[in-house]
Amino acid sequence: MTAEVFNVDYKEALAAAMAVEVFHNFSLVHDDIMDDAPLRRGHQTVHEKWDVNSGILSGDAMLILAYQYFEQYEPAVFMKLAKLFSKTALEVCEGQQWDVDFETRDDVTISEYLKMIEYKTAVLVAAAMKMGAIIAETSVENANLIYEFGLNLGLAFQLQDDYLDAFGDPETFGKQVGGDIIENKKTYLYLKAMAFSNKEQASHLSQVFSTHLEDNTEKIIWVKDVFNNSGASKATQQEIQEYTSKAFITLEKMNIEEDKKVMLRTFGENLMSRNV
Ligand code: IPE
Ligand code: MG
Ligand code: MG
Ligand code: MG
Repeated sequence: MTAEVFNVDYKEALAAAMAVEVFHNFSLVHDDIMDDAPLRRGHQTVHEKWDVNSGILSGDAMLILAYQYFEQYEPAVFMKLAKLFSKTALEVCEGQQWDVDFETRDDVTISEYLKMIEYKTAVLVAAAMKMGAIIAETSVENANLIYEFGLNLGLAFQLQDDYLDAFGDPETFGKQVGGDIIENKKTYLYLKAMAFSNKEQASHLSQVFSTHLEDNTEKIIWVKDVFNNSGASKATQQEIQEYTSKAFITLEKMNIEEDKKVMLRTFGENLMSRNV
């Protein structure tokens, strides 16, 4: 889409798009092992259907396959794409480690959380969009602006991901609802609920987020109530709006035709209103 935004046929960008897609799916196969997730897109996860070793190895193979897609570009473009991709992939790994580390920490701050989701999620959206700019050989300014646009949409996307993890419809969501609560993930919902609670409530919530239970039914119901009653759910929704608006402001600064801006704006709006 971003190749088209900068007036190049989308077909030129398909190999890079495939690289991003396969990389993304690799990261989800490994993420599901790390998060002990049973369900992905309505199907059993790879490590559940086969085993953990198959998940690790097929994930590794997918990462290699992802790089192979770049071989189709001429050297100068190849170099730029591979450089951006490697930088991004390392950031994703770093973000993933923070995400896991935060599970057992009780002093995570909002700014640490935002840095973590920037790395584990937003940079890939940003890089994917910049790849279109690289392939189209547009100006450096445009390339940087589309990166910033993607970064802010990516942040909104992960905030939405956290929200849906608790409040998505189990019929359509495709993942285990409440998975983040089970794993004691320090999401925006959790951190805001802590911030909006009095001392006693906060200590109770923090205690609940240090447990590992056999049956999580009660824990999930209770925590979701706290998220709603504390105002954390509402604050998360507002933050999603905030980052989407930020992305749209960046869009205005870009030197592209008006109909291209409409295309990107519609994409952002659809992302914000998604429920799966
Ligand atoms: C995953 O974040 C980020 C990466 C795979 C890099 P989540 O753990 O929140 O993603 P879901 O909820 O399992 O899809
Ligand atoms: Mg996960
Ligand atoms: Mg995860
Ligand atoms: Mg999630």
